[in-house]
Amino acid sequence: MALTKRTLVVYYSRSGTTAHVGHALARRLDTDEVMIQDQRAHGRVSVWRAALDRLLNTLPPIAPIAAPLENYDLIVLGTPVWGARAAAPVRRFLKDYGPSLPAVAFFCTMGGSGAANTFEDMQARLGKPPRASCSFDAKALDNGSYLGALDDFAMQLTDDAHSPPSRQPAPNGIPMHR
Ligand SMILES: Cc1cc2nc3c(=O)[nH]c(=O)nc-3n(C[C@H](O)[C@H](O)[C@H](O)COP(=O)(O)O)c2cc1C
Repeated sequence: MALTKRTLVVYYSRSGTTAHVGHALARRLDTDEVMIQDQRAHGRVSVWRAALDRLLNTLPPIAPIAAPLENYDLIVLGTPVWGARAAAPVRRFLKDYGPSLPAVAFFCTMGGSGAANTFEDMQARLGKPPRASCSFDAKALDNGSYLGALDDFAMQLTDDAHSPPSRQPAPNGIPMHR
């Protein structure tokens, strides 16, 4: 029986924060990572473009994901919070790839609020609950206290590798524990 579980960290990041967390998580899990690319962007998507995408619920075109998703057992999906929702390219990812994804976990970065609604919306779009979820706000990211939550989240994902999916998304800001 194959016991080795493969995990892929997938994230979108407009201004680098979610990429930073996603990269740190992938290093802790010793696993692969890939960034979702907004195909309209040559460089950084402007804050105005992002705000308009959120307002209009745009699903922008994204580049094909540069990893064979079917080869993984767990996808850890990271997003910045945009108006209490996932960033537009992540919503596009969920629409395009959601039906074929294996087990998932979520993380987000944000200024200060909106994680619970973001995770709820992601779960609704995916049609199944995440194994775990964790949010990181600007204060924790600035003062470094997010590192403890990141360690806990990584440990939870490792511990959960052979467990059934959970029913509840995490409360805002706290890695979920059963
Ligand atoms: C269009 C837009 C909407 C945002 N909405 C929220 C929000 O509802 N709540 C919040 O706490 N932060 C919000 N933010 C802040 C980002 O979630 C936060 O800065 C995030 O860490 C950025 O991640 P990134 O650097 O990976 O793009 C918003 C940012 C943008 C650009």
